[in-house]
Amino acid sequence: MIIDGKQISAELKAEVAQRVAEAAAQYGRVPHLVVIRVGEDPASVVYVRNKAKACEACGIRNTTLVMDENTPEEVLLQKIAALNVDPGVDGILVQLPLPRQISEAKVIAAIDRAKDVDGFHPLNVAGLWQKTPHMAPCTPKGILKLLSAAGVDPKGKRAVVIGRSNIVGLPVAKMLLDANATVTLCHTRTVDLSSVTREAEILVVAAGRPRMITGDMVSEGVVIIDVGMDRDPDTGKLCGDVDFDSCAPKASAITPVPGGVGPMTIACLMENTLECFLQRVSN
Ligand code: GUN
Repeated sequence: MIIDGKQISAELKAEVAQRVAEAAAQYGRVPHLVVIRVGEDPASVVYVRNKAKACEACGIRNTTLVMDENTPEEVLLQKIAALNVDPGVDGILVQLPLPRQISEAKVIAAIDRAKDVDGFHPLNVAGLWQKTPHMAPCTPKGILKLLSAAGVDPKGKRAVVIGRSNIVGLPVAKMLLDANATVTLCHTRTVDLSSVTREAEILVVAAGRPRMITGDMVSEGVVIIDVGMDRDPDTGKLCGDVDFDSCAPKASAITPVPGGVGPMTIACLMENTLECFLQRVSN
């Protein structure tokens, strides 16, 4: 079974659009998401455009701010400070990666926690790990929704996560743990990775290596979530961290690239924006 992230994300966006319409009727305005892109990183240009499109589909107001590649850190921090106190702004997202003169950690910490639609702020991260109220990061949240839509309950299953980034690997491992999976967290330097991946009943791959997981590395019946968004070194075409052709015949369910996790991340961003708005209007 191919897990259709496009379809599942379309359903979530339709649900968000419905709730946005209801919220607009009740509160007299729609949620407003401000997305900041610094520089011209080609992937970021595409991602930011897709976020704006999703806002349009959900009835969420979007402002996209594009800043020059050479923008000083201080200028970006001042912009964020102004958006933090702007009562007409519900969500703030600064697209990563940032140019080297700007500290990502400083930028993430500068965004008001209540407007942190990415769930990257240290207090939101702490909330995830301490099980206190928090905004959940979009990609891990989307992965758990994909599993649920595919009828896969992590409870009691052996889940293997490859990748230990703050954005995906670490939080998805924690969320699978909270869903009562037994989780093994490993990475590109794990010795004898195959012996670990073959034990997986759920395999989440967020390593950033084109087609690193091949069919011989997985067991029959595994559920595979491919978070990779890579370029095939031979063809230059978009591909995942999982070699789809050799893994799909063994998997009971697998996400494609593109059309799997990517669209879910954006749909969850829409949901997070609505949640930030609802928190703010009810406070
Ligand atoms: N760059 C790649 N993924 C993301 C994301 O989820 N949020 C932001 N802000 N930047 C990213």
